[in-house]
Amino acid sequence: MNRRHLSLSLFAVISFLIGSSFAPRAQAAEPTIDFVVATSQEAKAIQRAGEYAINRLARAMTNELRVALSKDKPEDVVPICHLKDLVKEGDTIKGLPRITAFKLTSLKVRSQANEPDAADQKALDAIEYALNSGDNVPNVLVQRIMSPDTPTEWRIYRPLGVATQCLVCHGDTADQTPELRAKLESFYPADQAVNYRDHEWRGLIRVSVADAETK
Ligand code: HEC
Repeated sequence: MNRRHLSLSLFAVISFLIGSSFAPRAQAAEPTIDFVVATSQEAKAIQRAGEYAINRLARAMTNELRVALSKDKPEDVVPICHLKDLVKEGDTIKGLPRITAFKLTSLKVRSQANEPDAADQKALDAIEYALNSGDNVPNVLVQRIMSPDTPTEWRIYRPLGVATQCLVCHGDTADQTPELRAKLESFYPADQAVNYRDHEWRGLIRVSVADAETK
């Protein structure tokens, strides 16, 4: 695990993606999805805004769980956890005016609402590829989505690992109480996000950043 491996693996992923963008498209209106190494001032500013937001949101998410699990049973935390109250769809997030979307996604989702879209899937595949090839896992992925009819979307992704507190709800089902099992099964009948182990890769936290600084 070293820097050289990391840049090689990113290079491999990026060249694969660049290569694939020359392939004939099934539909003309399909967006172009690229990973970008931020070198322009614009891309650097977008990456900074995205990473700042991710740091804040990830910290808020772990604090929220720590506080909630210290006073309530896990089954009572299930309906509110992962910033459901903080981040309402369509709203901007307080203090983060450039962030236009926030999402948690995974190769194994609990909620179908968190299923990856095509661009998320590419980010998940890039991380899985790095893990499987024994390379250093990128700490951040910057992605640009361009479509003919919509403004360019920039997404910043960061991998999330499983910490001890996550195991309460994402760990071995045999360790979960019948009350928690019942709650999870009734809310999420197709739940795939269980039986994780400590430090395992869980998924991605992602934000979308507005193209330009609000002037
Ligand atoms: C109190 C139970 C609970 C704990 C503890 C918990 N989660 Fe979750 N997790 C959930 C629920 C419930 C969902 C589905 C939320 C929804 O409806 O969008 C979820 C969804 C997710 C998702 C989105 C993908 C999916 O599976 O739908 C990720 C990523 C995730 N959790 C990561 C974590 C991480 C990392 C931790 C530890 C820091 C953690 N979770 C701790 C209950 C929990």
